[in-house]
Amino acid sequence: MEQYIIEGGIPLNGEVTIGGAKNAALGIIAGAVMADEDVLIENIPNVNDINVMLEAISEIGAKVNRIDAHTVVINGSSINTNEVKDEYMRKIRASYYFIGALLGKYNSAHVPLPGGCEIGARPIDQHLKGFRALGAKIDISGGSLHAKSDGLKAAHIYFDVVTVGATINVMLAASMAHGQTIIENAAREPHIVDVANFLNSMGANIKGAGTDTIRIRGVERFHGTEYSIIPDQIEAGTFMCMAAATRGNILIKNVIPKHLESITAKLLEMGNEVIEYDEAVRVIGAAEQRHTDVKTLPYPGFPTDMQPQMTVALALAEGISVVTESIFENRFKYVDELLRMGASIRVEGNVAVICGVKELSGASINVPDLRAGAALVTAALKAKGKSTLDEIGYIKRGYEEFDKKIAGLGGKITYISD
Ligand code: UD1
Repeated sequence: MEQYIIEGGIPLNGEVTIGGAKNAALGIIAGAVMADEDVLIENIPNVNDINVMLEAISEIGAKVNRIDAHTVVINGSSINTNEVKDEYMRKIRASYYFIGALLGKYNSAHVPLPGGCEIGARPIDQHLKGFRALGAKIDISGGSLHAKSDGLKAAHIYFDVVTVGATINVMLAASMAHGQTIIENAAREPHIVDVANFLNSMGANIKGAGTDTIRIRGVERFHGTEYSIIPDQIEAGTFMCMAAATRGNILIKNVIPKHLESITAKLLEMGNEVIEYDEAVRVIGAAEQRHTDVKTLPYPGFPTDMQPQMTVALALAEGISVVTESIFENRFKYVDELLRMGASIRVEGNVAVICGVKELSGASINVPDLRAGAALVTAALKAKGKSTLDEIGYIKRGYEEFDKKIAGLGGKITYISD
C-alpha cells in the first residue's frame, strides 16, 4: 500500500518545474510506432501511464530505448503483431490510440476495448465512426475490437461531440490514408496540436490542428524524427491552484502561459495575483479570496482535468461558488472526502454548489482518481493537522515526483510504501 502523510497549514513557497504533457506523450508514443526509423522523443514525463504505454509498444515488438528518465528512442520497424494485450488496456485507456496507429500503418488492429472508468462511462463511438468513415471494417467480439481495411481512404468526418481521444485517434489513422481527410468539430487542446506537430515532423501532412477543422493529407510512410513534448498544462494548473489554496507564492517554470489562460482568469477573479513570464507563471495566493463560477468545457474553455483542484481552491474562498462539470458525468466523487475535511459543498447531478469555509481539517482520505487525488493533496496541504491519503497510485499515473516537488516548496509530505 502506498500513502501520503501530510501535515497541513503551511503556505507553499518557491519554484517548481513542470514536466512534459502526459496526454500529448500518450498520443505521440502511439504515433511513433508508425515510423520504421528511429524516433527520438524528449521531455517525456516519467509517470506510470507513460511507462505502461512504453511497455505496451515494446510488447508488440517496437524497439524502446530509454536514454534517460525523460528521453526515449522508439523504432517501429520490428513490430511483429497488431494485437495489443488486454492488461495494457486495463491499466491505461489511452492504449486505444493503437487502433489508429496500427490501422493506419498496417491496415489492421486488434485491441481490447476500454471499460468505463472512475470519472464516467467514456464511450468510444466517435473513434469508431471515424475509422468506419475511413473504410475500416470494425468487428467487436470477446471484449476486443478488430479493425481491418484494404487500404484506408480519406473521408469527411464530423464529430458529434468534441473529443480529444477520437480527434487524435482518427488523425493517426488518416495520416496514412489515401487522399485528404477533413475532421470537423475537432478538439483544439494543446496536446492535439502537439501530436499533429510531432506527426508532421515524421512526414505527415496535417493542417489546422488547434482549430475545429483539421485537414490531413495521407502519406505513404513516416521517417524518423527528434521531437520535444510541450509542458503539461494540468500539472502547471495544479500547482497554480496549490499556490492559491495554501495562500503561498509559487513560481511555476517551464510552462506555456497561453495554455493556462482559463485557469489564470479564474484565479484572478478570486483575487489572487498571477504574473506571466515568457515560460513561467507566478501565482501569489491572496489571504482573502472571493467566490466565482466555473464550467468545464473543451479547450480553450476551463479543463475538466482542473475541475477538482479549482473546487478545492473555491472551497476556501469566501461566498458561494458554482462549479458545473459538462464533460464527464461522475467527476465529483472526491467531494465526499472534502466534506470529511470540513468543506461545505452540495452536489446535484453535474453541479457543485460550494459555500466557502475559512479552514479545513486533516482527515484520513481515499483518493478516487488521478486529478481528484491532486486536489485532495492540495486540500490536505491547506488543512489544519495531519491527513493520510490512501490509493495514491492514481496520482503517480500522472504526476512525476509529486511529493518531492511539494516538499521542495516547503510542504510537509511523506511518502510511505510497504
Ligand atoms: C482526454 C484526456 C483526459 C481529459 C479529456 C477531456 C487523454 C489520455 N485523456 O480523455 O485527461 O479529461 O480528454 O479533456 O488525453 N465521448 C463520446 N464518444 C467518444 C469519445 C468521447 O461521447 O467516442 C465523450 C466523452 O464521454 C466525454 C467527452 O466526449 O463526455 C470528451 O471526451 P474525450 O475528449 O474523448 O476524452 P478522452 O480523450 O477520453
